[in-house]
Formats: sequence, C-alpha cells, structure tokens
Amino acid sequence: MQTKILKVNNTKPQISAIRQAARLIQKGEIVAFPTETVYGLGADALNPLAVKKVFEAKGRPADNPLIIHIHDKKDLKKLARDMPKITEKITEKFWPGPLTIVLKKSKTVPKITTGGLDTVAIRMPKNKIASLLIKESGVPLAAPSANFFGRPSPTLAKHVSEDLSGRISMILDGGKTRIGIESTVIDLTSKTPMLLRPGGVTLEQIEEIIGTIRIHPIIKGRKSKIMHRSPGMKYKHYSPNAKIILIEGTDRNVDKKILQLISKFKKQKKRIGIMVMQKNHAYKADMVRFVGNSPDKIAANLFKAFREFDEGKIDIILAHGISREGLGLGIMNRLGKAAHMKIKV
Ligand code: TXA
Ligand code: MG
Repeated sequence: MQTKILKVNNTKPQISAIRQAARLIQKGEIVAFPTETVYGLGADALNPLAVKKVFEAKGRPADNPLIIHIHDKKDLKKLARDMPKITEKITEKFWPGPLTIVLKKSKTVPKITTGGLDTVAIRMPKNKIASLLIKESGVPLAAPSANFFGRPSPTLAKHVSEDLSGRISMILDGGKTRIGIESTVIDLTSKTPMLLRPGGVTLEQIEEIIGTIRIHPIIKGRKSKIMHRSPGMKYKHYSPNAKIILIEGTDRNVDKKILQLISKFKKQKKRIGIMVMQKNHAYKADMVRFVGNSPDKIAANLFKAFREFDEGKIDIILAHGISREGLGLGIMNRLGKAAHMKIKV
C-alpha cells in the first residue's frame, strides 16, 4: 500500500485535503491525523472492518481498546449510556481538549472498538484538522496514537511515516503537535471517578472542578488487582533500545549522580545520552538533548527526544526526574514506564 502524505495548515486546514481523507475513512480505510496531543490513526469507529485495520497496522493486541473521537458533544449520547451527572460538568469544562472519559458503551459501538469491554473511551480533540476530519467523515473516529505498537507516540508526521508507511492509506501532516503527551483518561463508570492515565489535562485541573478523585494505583507505581480497568496499562510501553535511568532528587544530588554515572559508563565504553531539563549544565556525553525547562516544553519534546536517542545509537540515557505537579505527573508517568532503572538521590 502506498501511503499518501498531505501537508495541511493547522490553523486554516485546506478543506480539499480534509475531504480526501474523509472519503478514505468512509470507504473503511485508515488515516493518520494530528490532534493537540499526539498523532492519531483514525478509522470509522462504527465499522468493525475498518477498526480491525487499525489493530493490524499498529500491531496492537486486540484487547487494548481504542479512544473514540467526536467533534460535537451531542454525539456522546449515541456512543454512551447511563452517563453520570458529572459528565456534563467535565465535558463543559474540558472539551474540546486533551481529556478522555470512560463511560458505559451503547449498542452502537462495536465490541472490537472497545477491545471487548462494555465501556467506551471518548474524547473531543481541540485541533482544527482533527475536528474537521471527524465532521467531514460524518462518523466518530476510533483513533489510537499513530505509532507502531511499543514505539513512542508520534508528535510529527515524520514519526508516523517512520512507523507506519506502507501500512496505512494517508497521513495528514499538520506539523508538530502542541502538547506532546497523550490525553488524560478518567473513568466515570464508578462512584468516584478514577484517573487511569495522566496526560494533557492535569489532575489539579480536574479536582478543581469535581473534587478529589481516585488515582489508579499503577500510576502511583503500585501493583494492582484492578489492572483490567485500563487494559493499556498491562502492556510494556515504549522503551528505547537504550536503557533509561531515571534519577530523582534535589537538583544538586541528581547532578552529582549524573556526573558519577557518566564517568562509570564511559569506562565501560557505552554511548551515553543525557536528557536535560535545565539550560545550565556541565554534562559531556555522546548526545545531550535539552528537552525544555518547563513541563509544557518537556512534554512537547519528550517523545521526539526518545526517537532521537535511538537514532543516535545511544546505549544509556540518563534522565533528570521532575516534579509530579501539573503536567509533570504525565511526563513522569511516561518516563517511568520507559525507564529500565529508577534511582532516588
Ligand atoms: O491523546 C490521545 O489520547 C491520543 C490521541 C490520538 O487522541 N490517543 C491515544 O490512544 O493515546 P491510545 O490508544 O494510544 O491510548 C488509549 C488509552 C489506552 O491506554 C487504553 O487502554 C485506554 O486509553 N482505554 C481505551 N478505552 C478504554 C476503556 N473502555 N476503559 C479503560 N481504558 C480505556
Ligand atoms: Mg498509544
């Protein structure tokens, strides 16, 4: 299969390009498109054959459910049932935006889309290309992140084509995605809502609107019996070919530890990469990548940096941990999942 790549303006999307993509979706094909978080791989969420193509192209296990993307809040009723009252409060505040809610699914949604579950994850993205594509397709779009299974989520069209070229019909190239980590996932099917994945909307923002929520134990780094609530959690997430060592502590201690580890691994003739979160540093290594000095910037550059370390054939990545406040919770969650070892100093 030839993958067609169309450049689209992120602020004023060319409608002709969007319509070409929408036509493919209507024919049951799959198309990658930008959202404000990461690129998604979209299919008609109500067409089981189209959804099957998404699982196949990504190499994704069939029990890991997809998020359904809508462009109009009214479409929620068609996809979900028995919605709790707070649904409206939450969608009013955070949609369109990087928040996914899990609700009981309606009969309309095929089981393949939800990985066999009777719940469904839904979000309304805040990106003009994504929104127009859903509108023009006339159907909700099931869309996981547009990476090959086990690779970092794509934040550039180039990342999508690295992983999926030849396996999907089209990529809409809208440039770099703004947020850079995936949406926050929150389960609304139990009495007290539960955070299943930290992401673009922060825990603090959610709690300001609906009060204290539960946090899935896995996010806190604990083993849990309620694993099944978010099937994605049990799969090994992206870990680069290099081993990531995540170091947490005061700036001074982390700095000291990094310098120690650099000299240790140099003696072992390893290729060393450093992921840096501050501008002033004295690290000398095979690859030093400054990802940003604020959570916004770090989130926006994180997955791109992972891919670059792999391209640079790095053996060991030393990464400076950050505070779990705000977007930091999502960033530390992604770093923690990718890490081979965590050190507290
Ligand atoms: O920002 C995003 O959410 C991106 C863009 C493309 O929208 N999408 C994304 O999709 O990250 P994906 O498939 O890579 O991650 C979806 C996560 C998985 O961890 C999955 O297990 C969880 O959402 N999920 C989906 N449906 C669920 C359900 N019914 N119950 C619990 N978790 C669910
Ligand atoms: Mg993903």
